[in-house]
Amino acid sequence: MDKVLLEKQGNIAILTLNNPKTLNALNGEFMSQIDKAIDEVNEDPNIYVLIITGTKKAFIAGADIKEMLPLTAAQTLEWGKIGSDLNTKIENLRIPVIAGLNGFALGGGCELAMACDIRIASEKAKFGQPECGLGITPGAGGTQRLPRIVGVGKAKELLYTGKIINAKEAFEIGLVNKVVDHEDLLDECLKMAEEIGANAQIAVQQIKRSVNMGVETDIETGLAYELQAFSVCNATEDKKIGMEAFLNKSKEKKFIY
Ligand code: CAA
Repeated sequence: MDKVLLEKQGNIAILTLNNPKTLNALNGEFMSQIDKAIDEVNEDPNIYVLIITGTKKAFIAGADIKEMLPLTAAQTLEWGKIGSDLNTKIENLRIPVIAGLNGFALGGGCELAMACDIRIASEKAKFGQPECGLGITPGAGGTQRLPRIVGVGKAKELLYTGKIINAKEAFEIGLVNKVVDHEDLLDECLKMAEEIGANAQIAVQQIKRSVNMGVETDIETGLAYELQAFSVCNATEDKKIGMEAFLNKSKEKKFIY
């Protein structure tokens, strides 16, 4: 796992993508390393939040164009599915995932960022889906997650023009949650991860599940998912801890999970 670094700080995992020579372009081997690291995080019950970030000037500059060029249609389908499945795995991970966007997040990089729950951008980050300029379409969620996040009109503008936008523009269209000074990026991600980590984790994870499932269905079904989540949390010791702390006016609140 030489191109991905996985560190754990308390209940937070930080996955750093570290192949600066190709601006973290996603090839098969690199995607497999990212996938393994995510599995490792998922299997660790002590990790409450995952931060994914890049190195130097790139988060991820897209899928590896050199690797894609010789692929046949059948191979493209198989190859694209690996990237698409990786993003779906991130989206459905039991814990919240924060993308710490340090630089270029283009094509497959923007797609991976969009599969994360929260996106925090350095002022130096750049975003875009430039695939149509390469003669292809996005293959790992760009045509699906971008309109869901920024709305159909803005998504089509970005997808049809392939233009690259800066962090401020990305914030204005709702593609990122906030823009921070470049040198503060990791601290800002950690701060948000700690805020999330201080809450009851069964509740946080049930909320993630309920939001993700709810946005893909009608409101009646979504509300039914929410009621299920509400009732699951009722059975937890953390509910007792959280509510008793409030009623006792106590600031001391130590959730079990
Ligand atoms: N694939 C393969 N190699 C890439 C790459 C990519 N997506 N992006 C950058 N690189 C390589 C460059 O070829 C270059 O390699 P060499 O040093 O061997 O020449 C190295 O990374 C550094 O890149 P640049 O010299 O181009 O750096 P720059 O600062 O001048 O430009 C950039 C940066 C604007 C990001 C430019 O590299 C660029 O436009 N990259 C391609 C972006 C792109 O089109 N991404 C979409 C890919 S398709 C996709 O992602 C499909 C999908 O949906 C899954």
